[in-house]
Amino acid sequence: MKTFAILTSGGDSPGMNCAIRAFVRTLIFNGHKALGVRKGYEGLIQNKFIELSASSVGNIMQRGGTILQSSRSEEFKKKEFREIAIKNLKDQGVDGLVVIGGDGSFKGAYKLWEEFNFPVIGIPGTIDNDISGTEYTIGHNTAVETAIQAVDKIRDTAFSHDRVFLIEVMGRNSASIAIKTALCSGAENVILPHQEIDYDEIADSVKRGIQRGKKGSIFIVAEGAREGRSYDIQVKLRDDYQIQSRVCILGHIQRGGSPSPKDRLIASEMGHKSALALLEFTQPLITAVHSGKVIEVNFSDAIHKNNDEDHDYLHIIKTLSI
Ligand code: F6P
Repeated sequence: MKTFAILTSGGDSPGMNCAIRAFVRTLIFNGHKALGVRKGYEGLIQNKFIELSASSVGNIMQRGGTILQSSRSEEFKKKEFREIAIKNLKDQGVDGLVVIGGDGSFKGAYKLWEEFNFPVIGIPGTIDNDISGTEYTIGHNTAVETAIQAVDKIRDTAFSHDRVFLIEVMGRNSASIAIKTALCSGAENVILPHQEIDYDEIADSVKRGIQRGKKGSIFIVAEGAREGRSYDIQVKLRDDYQIQSRVCILGHIQRGGSPSPKDRLIASEMGHKSALALLEFTQPLITAVHSGKVIEVNFSDAIHKNNDEDHDYLHIIKTLSI
């Protein structure tokens, strides 16, 4: 019988619990033992392990967030703390580790392999869908759905009052949520995370809309480097172009909530395959979606950000928002 551990790291995302459940039950089904690490890499450093039984992961599929909790650990970036983590893993008799998280979390996991030859498998989990080596990261679909539902509601008010709305969605470095939300909610424009804003163009599009008899305009703004960036855009539109607008920052409601069927399916398959990958371990891998299927890819393919995701849609958004 072998013992394997799982942790969730970085921003939580809907579907993480499905992956934890599938990992634990696959191990137990095959006669092995599963441990959970509390609060990501912090828990690894602080030796916070709990045994996960089949029933301890019951009734969690439908819950957002992560039952193990998460953290963004600064300490784990230092080798001295990774040495403590490895000692704790070995003291607990752990033979391999699954890390669910984004590119930062994967970089940390890969260090455990590079420095200590410790078996690691990654499951991409972030609402941002911005990891190289996979078409999909768990939680993204649910986050986009949440954002679209919110924009639909705001559009009712935009229409009723002939208003311009700047709706800010998550994505510090990723445009994926913004682009999909814009296309699926019929937004008039989308502003990308680090884009130089062309205010003349924005003002023209608002004026064009008014001439065509449009009732209200929706702009989707990716939060970029700083949450609240929409307020600067609002002031500029008001002072330089005499365009009044309202701001709505959707914020962390996009990270929570019950995972969509797509997230449950992919997370369950990834959790299952991550356990099997540890049982047959030869090298660090990541579960990834390629051409719609869950497969395993080399860990090193997936430790970078992918920021081009969904940019092909920009032209469609522009064309359809005339
Ligand atoms: O989980 C990804 C993400 O939601 C980004 O889109 C966002 O910029 C960031 O995390 C915010 O995270 P936090 O509030 O936890 O620092």
